[in-house]
Amino acid sequence: MGDYRAVSWVLLVFVLVTCISGEDPYRFFTWNVTYGDIYPLGVKQQGILINGQFPGPPIESVTNDNLIISVYNSLDEPFLLSWNGVQQRRNSWQDGVYGTNCPIPPGKNFTYVLQVKDQIGSYFYFPSLAFHKAAGGYGGIKISSRPLIPVPFPPPAGDYTILAGDWYKKNHTDLKAILDGGGDLPFPDGLLINGRGSNGYTFTVDQGKTYRFRISNVGIATSLNFRIQGHKMLLVEVEGTHALQNTYSSLDIHLGQSYSVLVTADQPAQDYYIVVSTRFTSQVLTTTSTLHYSNSAGRVSGPPPGGPTIQIDWSLNQARSIRRNLTASGPRPNPQGSYHYGLINTTHTIRLANSAPVISGKQRYAVNSVSFIPADTPLKLADYFKISGVFNLGSIPDNPTGGGGYLQTSVMAADFRGFAEVVFENPEDTLQSWHIDGHNFFVVG
Ligand SMILES: *[C@@H]1O[C@H](CO)[C@@H](O)[C@H](O)[C@H]1NC(C)=O
Ligand SMILES: *[C@@H]1O[C@H](CO)[C@@H](O)[C@H](O)[C@H]1NC(C)=O
Ligand SMILES: *[C@@H]1O[C@H](CO)[C@@H](O)[C@H](O)[C@H]1NC(C)=O
Ligand SMILES: *[C@@H]1O[C@H](CO)[C@@H](O)[C@H](O)[C@H]1NC(C)=O
Ligand SMILES: *[C@@H]1O[C@H](CO)[C@@H](O)[C@H](O)[C@H]1NC(C)=O
Repeated sequence: MGDYRAVSWVLLVFVLVTCISGEDPYRFFTWNVTYGDIYPLGVKQQGILINGQFPGPPIESVTNDNLIISVYNSLDEPFLLSWNGVQQRRNSWQDGVYGTNCPIPPGKNFTYVLQVKDQIGSYFYFPSLAFHKAAGGYGGIKISSRPLIPVPFPPPAGDYTILAGDWYKKNHTDLKAILDGGGDLPFPDGLLINGRGSNGYTFTVDQGKTYRFRISNVGIATSLNFRIQGHKMLLVEVEGTHALQNTYSSLDIHLGQSYSVLVTADQPAQDYYIVVSTRFTSQVLTTTSTLHYSNSAGRVSGPPPGGPTIQIDWSLNQARSIRRNLTASGPRPNPQGSYHYGLINTTHTIRLANSAPVISGKQRYAVNSVSFIPADTPLKLADYFKISGVFNLGSIPDNPTGGGGYLQTSVMAADFRGFAEVVFENPEDTLQSWHIDGHNFFVVG
C-alpha cells in the first residue's frame, strides 16, 4: 500500500509538472538560411542570411518560453545552429554543436524545440560548423524576466542589441582551406557592429533617458573592448546573471561573451561614437557606430575615444570586478540547491590544455592532444541505441598528456549530478576562448 501511494504521488507530481510546463507560452519561428550578397567591409561577399537578413532575426522571449524554430537549410552544405547560453536542460540534442546535434543537410529542414527554462538575459545564436560564422548566420537572443519578477533596475527607455565581432574579407571556404593547407588563421580584416563596418549603424536615444545595450562578441578570433564616447556604462547583466552594478568607461568582451549595460543619455545633445577595438593584438582594429541624440545639434566630433590595447592586467582586474548579485531576482540555477559552492564536494577534476598541432599537413586544434573528428554514426544515436564501436568513453584524457596531437572521436565521461572542477591551461602564445555548452559554470579562480 505504501508503495502504491508513492507511485500515485509520483504520478500526481508528474501530471502537475506537465500541466505547468503546458502553460508556458510557445513562440514559433520559421527561418530560411540562404547565401546572399553582403558588403560589410565595402567589398561584395557571399554571406549567410536568415530570412534575407544579416545578422539574422532576433529572438525575443520570456523566461520559460518554448521556442519552436523551424530552419530550412538552402545552402549547399550541412548547417547547424547553436544557441549560445541556452541551457538545454535535459535537451542536449537541440544544442546545435557537433556530437550532440546532427547538422541539417542541404535542402532539408529541421525544427529546433527548446525551452528557456528558468533563464533570463542576453545571448546569441550562431552556426557552429565549417566556419559558417565567418559568413554570418548569427543573431541575438533576449530572454526577459516574467512580468511579476522584480528586476534590479528600472525598465529602460529602449533595449538595443550590439553584435560585434571581427570579420574576414575571405569567405568561410577559403578560411577552411587555409587551415587544411597547414596555415594559421589570418589576422581579421576589420570589425563589424550589427553586420556593418565603421559608421554603418546608428542607435537613437532621447536626451535624459536610460537605455539598455546588450553587447555580444560574435567574432572568430579576437577579444574586443567596447566604449561609448563621453558616457559611462552601468553593468547590470552578464550572460543571464544580474551583476553587482558597477560603472565602467570601457568593457572588455571576449569571444562568445554577452554583457548588458545601462547608458544614460546625460550629455549635451549631439552624436557620439560607439567604439569597438581589438584587444591583445599588435595591430589594433577599430570600428565605430553612432549614438545619436534625437535632439542632436551636431555630428560626432573629435577622434573616437581610445581604449586599452595590450594591457592584460587591466583586463583581469576588470573581470575580477564583475560579481553576481546574489540577492537580485533571477533564476536559481544551482542543482545542489545551495549558494555555498565552497561546501559542495568536487566529484571530478578535469584539466584541459589547448594546442594547435599540424596533423597530416593540416592545421588543427586539440584539447589534451586530441583533435575531434566526427564519427559516421551520430554520437547521440550511438549512445541511445547502444551501438558499440562508434566512440569510447575516456577517448580523451582528463589531463594534458604533453604528447603530440592526434585525431579521435573524443568523448569524456562524467557523472549525472556530479560537481566537476575544470581547469583550463593555455600553453600557446595566443588568447583562447572556450565554448562550454549546456551546463552552469561558476568561475572560481
Ligand atoms: C528559401 O529562399 C530561397 C531563395 O530565396 C527560395 O528559393 C526558397 O524557396 C526558400 N525556401 C523556403 C522554405 O522558404
Ligand atoms: C520540414 O518542413 C515540412 C514542410 O514545411 C514540414 O511538414 C516538416 O514537419 C518539417 N520537418 C522538420 C523535421 O521540421
Ligand atoms: C569563396 O571564395 C572563393 C574565391 O576566393 C570561391 O571560389 C568560393 O566559391 C567561395 N565560396 C563561397 C561559399 O562563397
Ligand atoms: C542587488 O540586487 C538587489 C535586489 O534587486 C538590489 O536592491 C541591489 O541594489 C543590488 N546590488 C547591487 C550592488 O547592484
Ligand atoms: C563533503 O565531504 C565531507 C567529507 O567526506 C562530508 O563530511 C561532507 O558532508 C560533504 N559535503 C557535502 C555537501 O556533501
